[in-house]
Amino acid sequence: MASEVPPVYIGLKGIYVAKTALSYIDGERGRLIYRGYSIEDLAEHSSFEEVTYLLWFGKLPNRKELEEFKENLSREREIPDDVVDILRKLPKSSHPMDVLKTGVAALGPFDPDLPNIWGQHIHEKRTENLRIAIRILSKMPTIMAYFHRMREGKEIVRPRTDLSHAANFLYMMWGREPKEIEAKLMDVALILHADHGFNASTFACLVTASTLSDLYSAVVTGISTLKGPLHGGANEQALKMLMEIGSPERARDYVKAKLERKERIMGFGHRVYKAYDPRARILKKYAEMLAKETGQENLFNTALEVEKVMIELLGKKGIFPNVDFYSGQVYHMLGIPTDIFTPIFAISRTSGWIGHVFEYWEENVLIRPRALYVGPMEAKYIPLDERL
Ligand SMILES: CC(C)(COP(=O)(O)OP(=O)(O)OC[C@H]1O[C@@H](n2cnc3c(N)ncnc32)[C@H](O)[C@@H]1OP(=O)(O)O)[C@@H](O)C(=O)NCCC(=O)NCCS
Repeated sequence: MASEVPPVYIGLKGIYVAKTALSYIDGERGRLIYRGYSIEDLAEHSSFEEVTYLLWFGKLPNRKELEEFKENLSREREIPDDVVDILRKLPKSSHPMDVLKTGVAALGPFDPDLPNIWGQHIHEKRTENLRIAIRILSKMPTIMAYFHRMREGKEIVRPRTDLSHAANFLYMMWGREPKEIEAKLMDVALILHADHGFNASTFACLVTASTLSDLYSAVVTGISTLKGPLHGGANEQALKMLMEIGSPERARDYVKAKLERKERIMGFGHRVYKAYDPRARILKKYAEMLAKETGQENLFNTALEVEKVMIELLGKKGIFPNVDFYSGQVYHMLGIPTDIFTPIFAISRTSGWIGHVFEYWEENVLIRPRALYVGPMEAKYIPLDERL
């Protein structure tokens, strides 16, 4: 063993492993930008399709480019009947993230471009890889909505090409066209989750992509990594907590008692943000509107009170609401089942995952770190029969 012990960065905390121009988080000032554009501007003025174009192509599209991109996306929404059959055969109790992973994996072999790109750089097969990217992004909401209706014993609702990515997802889930506010909210949620620097799932996607594996494999890796509760999933717990609290009057005592027991309040704090998460601020505005519209003011007011108490008690430590505090409420008010919260995150983040893969492929380097060996250097092999 080498005499000098190299530094070991367990969890890669604080380690820069690549350069990116996709998104930047200013944790101190509570700012998030995608390629320089503020998340506030994008949430208010753009669409998920526009943001995806920005992340993949490096610039905002003009009207013609956007129309063309939207058209390319919307005509790829259907999934092959054989993949629908696979979804039907999955247990109805399956975790929707497992369904999404299985669905995306099953789509790969049906993709006519896949056999032609294997092991080649994006530079060489850019057109094919773009077509694949569009197919993956377009078909993921279909997989989720189909499975959701199947498990509820309902007929599947085929995608429409005249609706936005967000509106079509809700349409396929519900079997009715969403109201304007519902579609806008889903669109905003997709924009807010589209990218967030080098999080665990994005990094995992890049590990797969860096071997020059394909986009289906990279996205399956991303979904698998996002499934873990340390990454996706806090919004579900934040919502459960608000339901448990039940009313604004009970919030203060509940929060105080939990903190006294040294327990965490879900939907607060962030590894990078030490200020108010800008995505939470945007969703809060919509949560208020939706609460009024759907008569769920009690839930929203309970959240407001929890936020007030938390900021009072822990704001000085840099603990503020994060995106999960408000996203769970918003999805719930929209009538989306809690186990589909993380799949929505995946449907959105696929835009960022693919954008990062495209960017990384420009100057691809195989990601292959090392682990410091701490086992014995010499061990005498004992035949099986002689072992105790
Ligand atoms: C996200 C999270 C893991 C970030 O943690 P981190 O930056 O590594 O910070 P730490 O876990 O080291 O916590 C720092 C301090 O703040 C406290 N803290 C952090 N988040 C807290 C929360 N949600 N509720 C109560 N206290 C919290 C910790 O107890 C710790 O206190 P101490 O210094 O007295 O020991 C953490 O804030 C958390 O667990 N939040 C709840 C889960 C959540 O909402 N996750 C979604 C993130 S988008």
